[in-house]
Amino acid sequence: MKVVDSILKAQALYHVYESKAEDGNVVALRGLHIDVKAGEAIAVVGPSGSGKSTLMKCLGGLMKASAGSVFLAGKNMTRLSGPELVHLRQKTVSFIFQDGNLLPNMNARDNVAQPLRHQGISSRKALKLADAMLDKLGILHRAKALPMRLSGGEQQRVAIARALITKPRLILADEPTGALDPITSREVLALFKDLHENDGVSFLIVTHSKEVAAFANRSLELRDGRFVAEHGEGVDVEDLSEGRELIIDDTGTVTLPPDVLLRIGGAGKYMIGNIDSGYISLQGESVESMGKLELASKCPACKHDYGDSEEQLCPSCGSSRPMVEV
Ligand SMILES: Nc1ncnc2c1ncn2[C@@H]1O[C@H](COP(=O)(O)OP(=O)(O)OP(=O)(O)O)[C@@H](O)[C@H]1O
Ligand SMILES: [Mg+2]
Repeated sequence: MKVVDSILKAQALYHVYESKAEDGNVVALRGLHIDVKAGEAIAVVGPSGSGKSTLMKCLGGLMKASAGSVFLAGKNMTRLSGPELVHLRQKTVSFIFQDGNLLPNMNARDNVAQPLRHQGISSRKALKLADAMLDKLGILHRAKALPMRLSGGEQQRVAIARALITKPRLILADEPTGALDPITSREVLALFKDLHENDGVSFLIVTHSKEVAAFANRSLELRDGRFVAEHGEGVDVEDLSEGRELIIDDTGTVTLPPDVLLRIGGAGKYMIGNIDSGYISLQGESVESMGKLELASKCPACKHDYGDSEEQLCPSCGSSRPMVEV
């Protein structure tokens, strides 16, 4: 059997944002497991606030998770000393975040060249390579501009150039095409595809975009800090109820997405019916006593009125649509 190396693995990852405010702590990640194999491209999809950015920051070692472990190229990141961690990250992984990717007091070219200089490459060579990468992303003409003088889409392209310049084995990207126009977005995606298919670069990409999700080999659906389901190629990000495989993790935990819960009659007690290897059936003890639920008619976050629609995500603010008792 061929053993495929894991480039990034997390086990029982928890993250709590502590706050003394009245609404208290926020549990953003609830015991999450993930395994990205070398050469794999995985999309992370899910509603706003489900923990996608928190997950990326914890996986990249930019934020220390409250509990759990993260293995990068087989090494436990929490066990490494500061310099060891920096070295491992430098040669393995690059990040593209929603914002704050660039150093504000350096021009575009220096921002892109900087990771190479950190690796001990001469400044002259680093700048030459930076120019070539900026050219590839169609932004060389803005090489001398400071980030604050660049548009959101231009900044994003510089950030992508900076992420690619070190030839990382893994790219962690949080909505990398979010600030780009459709044409640039397509070009960036083509570049990612090339790196994936021809250089075997692995990707973990948070996205709301159909095109980006289509590039991934599989997509993981995040809800309230847990991966609840997996989708194969060609996932429809606007309707996740299609082609969904529920995940039962090592601890035996399974979370039903709201639309599935709605269809079976809601929360309550279920008797185990038939059970066999790879098969289980559940029978609601008494559907009547479980309380009848329906999708909320208004978004609790922004008060959007859903009308007759069956949408799971709020079209105005992206929050997941809760269910209410009738
Ligand atoms: N610095 C913070 N302090 C307190 N709570 C936070 C902080 N950052 C995020 N949160 C909370 O943690 C949860 C997860 O946030 P996160 O940013 O990971 O969501 P997301 O899935 O990336 O959302 P979006 O799609 O809007 O980017 C949310 O409830 C959010 O309000
Ligand atoms: Mg986010």
